[in-house]
Amino acid sequence: MNFQDLPVQARALLKDLAFRTPMARWVAHRWQYNFSPSQLGFLCSCLDRTRDVPGPVFEVGCFAGVTTVFLNKHMSAEGMEKPYYAFDTFGGFVEADVAFESDRRGKQRSQLQGFTDNRKEWFDATMALNGVTRTRSVQADVNTFDFGSLDAPSFCLLDVDLYRPVRSVLEALYDRLPSGAIVVVDDCKDAVAFDGALQAYREFIGLHGLPERIVHGKLGVIEKP
Ligand SMILES: C[S@@+](CC[C@H](N)C(=O)[O-])C[C@H]1O[C@@H](n2cnc3c(N)ncnc32)[C@H](O)[C@@H]1O
Repeated sequence: MNFQDLPVQARALLKDLAFRTPMARWVAHRWQYNFSPSQLGFLCSCLDRTRDVPGPVFEVGCFAGVTTVFLNKHMSAEGMEKPYYAFDTFGGFVEADVAFESDRRGKQRSQLQGFTDNRKEWFDATMALNGVTRTRSVQADVNTFDFGSLDAPSFCLLDVDLYRPVRSVLEALYDRLPSGAIVVVDDCKDAVAFDGALQAYREFIGLHGLPERIVHGKLGVIEKP
């Protein structure tokens, strides 16, 4: 039996009990996004601007699918029908990426933990529970994934935090991007654990003669002319 199938009084009693315990965090609404409202709004505006650009949507680094659900709900509400590919190891960072941060960028390994409590099956179940049907999850190390096997994206949220995977994905995608495509690189912020994303973004736009545009505090934008 589902919680929702219980009589209303029983649901209220169980919730009331839960709110008096540490389980409150599971029953109360909580902000679970890695993005602020204005950052989420900006991502939606990128989807809007690229709606007529050919190609699917990519979210490279999707973790548990919180932003995936949000962006898919926006696409449905606006009648945007494109495939949405969500990439992740579904097990956190890969050793070569962490070793690069630690050996070449002076980061403490202890700063680079997280995202390990995840599974592709949980991500897929989250999509199903939220009625999201257009998303295809891809379990891969994005440093080595063959992006050439898919159409190039019209919009890509690149959210893998560390230098090496951000750089690899920009290199793999940029030349094939259709005109008008937008890539947003998350964590373009200085002097934080994940500032490898900023270094990769800056090096990449420097090499390609592209303008630097970082909005809403941490979103590095690349637009294909
Ligand atoms: C900040 S989380 C993504 C958050 C997600 N976009 C959201 O808004 O909820 C970063 C994710 O990148 C993934 N990741 C990091 N390096 C990766 C790599 N080399 N290949 C695939 N996924 C990677 C991690 O497993 C983690 O789930």
